[in-house]
Amino acid sequence: MKISLLKCISCGKEFPLTDIRFTCTCGNLLDVEHDLLFLKKKFHLSQKYFDGKRATINGQPSGGVWHFREIVLPSVSDKEIVSKQEGNTRLYRSKKISSWLGLQRFYLKHEGENPTGSFKDRGMTVATTQAKRLHQKAVVCASTGNTSASLAAYASEAEITGLVLIPKGNVAVGKISQALAYGAKTLIVDGDFDDCMRLIFEAQEKLQAYPLNSINPFRLEGQKTIIWEILQQLQWKVPDWLVFPGGNLGNTSAFGKALHEALQLGLIEKMPRFAVVQADGASPFYKAYKSGFKELKPQKAETIATAIKIGNPANYTKAIRSLQWTDGIVESVTDEEILEAKAAVDAAGIGAEPASCATVAGLKKLIDNGTINSKETAVGILTGNILKDPQIIVDYHLAARSKYSNPPVDIEATINDVKKFL
Ligand code: F0G
Repeated sequence: MKISLLKCISCGKEFPLTDIRFTCTCGNLLDVEHDLLFLKKKFHLSQKYFDGKRATINGQPSGGVWHFREIVLPSVSDKEIVSKQEGNTRLYRSKKISSWLGLQRFYLKHEGENPTGSFKDRGMTVATTQAKRLHQKAVVCASTGNTSASLAAYASEAEITGLVLIPKGNVAVGKISQALAYGAKTLIVDGDFDDCMRLIFEAQEKLQAYPLNSINPFRLEGQKTIIWEILQQLQWKVPDWLVFPGGNLGNTSAFGKALHEALQLGLIEKMPRFAVVQADGASPFYKAYKSGFKELKPQKAETIATAIKIGNPANYTKAIRSLQWTDGIVESVTDEEILEAKAAVDAAGIGAEPASCATVAGLKKLIDNGTINSKETAVGILTGNILKDPQIIVDYHLAARSKYSNPPVDIEATINDVKKFL
């Protein structure tokens, strides 16, 4: 076998890594598949190897994604890599959130601390690198916001034309600002995210623009490193649960592959369980899970967590595989529950955007209904930065509707007025 190739997750058909294709002739999705046994032998891959390594790119610290380059994109050279030192994000503990949840052994991996403020950068560094290796002139994506911000920044770095399609009226202001500021051509589509995705598939066929959505398997290779980094931060002790939001299901797919590979490489000896959390109004994966994955029924999506406002997830089949590998479950939460969890995460001084806080809302629901035991260890993943969606925060606090409400107060310019609040 070649060291790395593209392989269909359904019929197993193989294609060279240099092919520009995202689905098999049979219609299913493609993995980037590495010859792990060969790589393990060649680099003596082990926990110790990754712990002891000081990875660099062109003499600079590599960041967390390329720390794992042997099992992300082994054939790449330093010169080819388009990187902003993404990854190496913090793993927080918070007494406040732990006591709110009733879960002591609880960690939050903050992917909002990446260069453009979301986990997308981990995938974008790899997929943009591949776009450059394939001499692509333009990259394109459909986006609920974060992918477009990330694509814009990486396309600028790679000096490739960036084109982003975003659904009208449904993208948080922080994210649109980034796409504009970093210089991507920003097309506001009169439709929803699922319409934008449809246009991306067409653009790839008819316009030779290279898609950087999560159907691009190179994106998922970068996102795998979130999991390996967590394992390293926990001294390779596998937590009982990994909890994270599901939209287009790229992370669900990437995280399952990361753990499956870690098991094959002997980096871990058991799997954690996945809990994927969706918003009630955008929960096709949750409903399919409840029906035993008999079928995916696309829906018109509606939720305040615009990042996961997706009704027809592109990575559905890969996500099912991840749940099978991890004995995973899917939960669904209301917008109200997301806002309350967000207020708790924000008030702990950590903060994250609404979709990220679906993680914590889902965790609370699963602890309250006894699915997750208060003695177990859980790692929640915060996918995006608090500053992505400032409007929702201001609206929430001005509405003064929960114990976390913290509305601003107008005062006279006197010290007596200040004193009243101390
Ligand atoms: N959280 C945030 C903050 C996101 O931006 C997204 C997806 C998700 C969760 C869902 O992740 O698709 O891997 O299940 N945002 C995409 C975008 C769709 O266009 O920015 P997923």
